[in-house]
Amino acid sequence: MKTETTINGLRGALRAARKAGKSIAFVPTMGNLHDGHITLVKAAKRRADVVVASIFVNPTQFGVNEDFDKYPRTLPADSALLADADCDLLFAPDAREMYPDGRSQHTSVSVSGITDVLCGASRPGHFTGVATVVCKLFNIVQPDMALFGEKDYQQLAVIRCMARELCFPVEVIGVPTVRADDGLALSSRNGFLSADERQQAPLIFQTLSNLRSAIESGQRDYTMLAQAARSHLDKCGFVTDYLDIRRQDLVDAGPDDKALVILVAARLGATRLIDNLAFELA
Ligand code: PAF
Repeated sequence: MKTETTINGLRGALRAARKAGKSIAFVPTMGNLHDGHITLVKAAKRRADVVVASIFVNPTQFGVNEDFDKYPRTLPADSALLADADCDLLFAPDAREMYPDGRSQHTSVSVSGITDVLCGASRPGHFTGVATVVCKLFNIVQPDMALFGEKDYQQLAVIRCMARELCFPVEVIGVPTVRADDGLALSSRNGFLSADERQQAPLIFQTLSNLRSAIESGQRDYTMLAQAARSHLDKCGFVTDYLDIRRQDLVDAGPDDKALVILVAARLGATRLIDNLAFELA
């Protein structure tokens, strides 16, 4: 696997493949890779001739009091995992390469509407940072397709919207969440959990699964169901940021909607965890 740290280097490394008409799949990441990321690389490998991954801890998607400084940077271990997964090319730029005019002086991409709710409401500016960096990465790599984990459900919706509205010829592909045996969605932030918190964390997915069963068994008072689930998580030591039952396009769900998603963000100690469960009613 080749590693490039500059935009010119990356473009040069892809020139021959592009000329030969090879398809290119792209897996953007912030590093500290786990099985969820490797699943994305393997899925990319099955779909395209050349797989490019990026590792860049994007400063513009972190709020001032968020965990940008302590976000784990593990490039040597990440490179080894990517090479093992048969990734062809790693793009690992620094902040100056991505934001030559600085973090506060740059052109940004803002997706409206779906960013007003959920993580967009509790992390102002977060999705503008995500849309901006993904837009830049799409322009740099110019892939045929890009793969993202469904754990970041709203992020995937924002990126699909950005790609469609800015006319990127990139197929945006969602890949199912990879979970630990106890149901916890894999996340780079799980490493911040203490041993006790790690034991408690699977309650998030259990809560989502219980809500799904309640809805499948005919309960339709979504406000009451969500409120009860939030209170349960809070009683068990979480600080729930949101827990919502929505349509899969993220609009509030009504009793006749069939394609639903339950989304949650909750803090456990200092760690913010997110998860979701999408399903269809018969
Ligand atoms: O999901 C992530 O790791 C990041 O938000 C992304 C898409 C790589 C943009 O920085």
